Amino acid sequence: MSAVFTPGALLPGRRAIVTGGGRGIGAAITRAFAAHGAHVLVVDTVDVDQRAHEFDSAAGGSIEHLVADVCDGATAGRLAQWRPEILVNNVGHFLRPPVRFADEAPAMWTQLGDVNFEHVLRLTHAVLPVMPRGGSIVNVTTVEAHRAIPGHTVYSAYKAALMQFTRSLGVEEGHNGIRVNAIAPDLVESVQVPYRDLVADEDWAKWPYWAPLGGPGAPDDVAGAALYLASDLSRYVTGTTVHVDGGSHAAGGWFRRGSGGWTNRPADA
Ligand SMILES: NC(=O)c1ccc[n+]([C@@H]2O[C@H](COP(=O)([O-])OP(=O)(O)OC[C@H]3O[C@@H](n4cnc5c(N)ncnc54)[C@H](O)[C@@H]3O)[C@@H](O)[C@H]2O)c1
Repeated sequence: MSAVFTPGALLPGRRAIVTGGGRGIGAAITRAFAAHGAHVLVVDTVDVDQRAHEFDSAAGGSIEHLVADVCDGATAGRLAQWRPEILVNNVGHFLRPPVRFADEAPAMWTQLGDVNFEHVLRLTHAVLPVMPRGGSIVNVTTVEAHRAIPGHTVYSAYKAALMQFTRSLGVEEGHNGIRVNAIAPDLVESVQVPYRDLVADEDWAKWPYWAPLGGPGAPDDVAGAALYLASDLSRYVTGTTVHVDGGSHAAGGWFRRGSGGWTNRPADA
């Protein structure tokens, strides 16, 4: 490798797996990878409308679908057979509306643990032995791995665990030429977080005061970070997190005022 950046396809001929690649952030990552020449296996519980995966095939990329649940114990072995050079562990979910931890049924912890963390261990453990030097693993966490989210305490705890797993595995696999990084999104319009439904019409104009870069973000914004972390552009980057959140993590509770200036105090307490 010589030039740090050369125009053209960034993932020519690379074999990639994107979990939850059927919709939302995962679908955008899938399109971006394929448009840059990768052969992408999408693993999703739903068989997705092909229009979600339309891409420019000039770079020779392709997309295949595997309808499977990543939480199913048999899925990890099936994914290892694909022999990926890139693994994007994108599946994750709140699973339920906010609830006080004291009122939560312990059975829910198991489900939250599996869909946000445990399955990533299984998939990564199965794939690592067949991943060649130059491989890249990208784990999708959340801003709430770095800050609180009351009502979703267990979700945030498992996402934080995924962030720490990313760090330690990145260090452990460095000498094998495999990089491990995370993306922590926030405020991205998707099926799981449909801001167009969640935000009242009268509040829509407040986006510039909500996040430094306004919002909402789009799944394609996250795909840009995934492309960087999967490709040789980030060849000297491992064990770290890219925040794709319009600046919400950096703001840490600071909001621009419509009248000018800044506040870190609740507006309606
Ligand atoms: N959208 C945001 O602003 C935001 C914020 C923080 C974190 N995230 C994280 O980003 C990731 C993607 O979120 P999104 O908003 O695109 O979600 P989404 O719900 O819009 O899409 C998730 C996809 O994963 C699939 N899926 C869910 N469970 C699965 C399973 N067990 N096996 C296989 N496929 C499964 C779904 O069918 C869907 O296609 C998640 O890990 C989420 O926690 C998103």
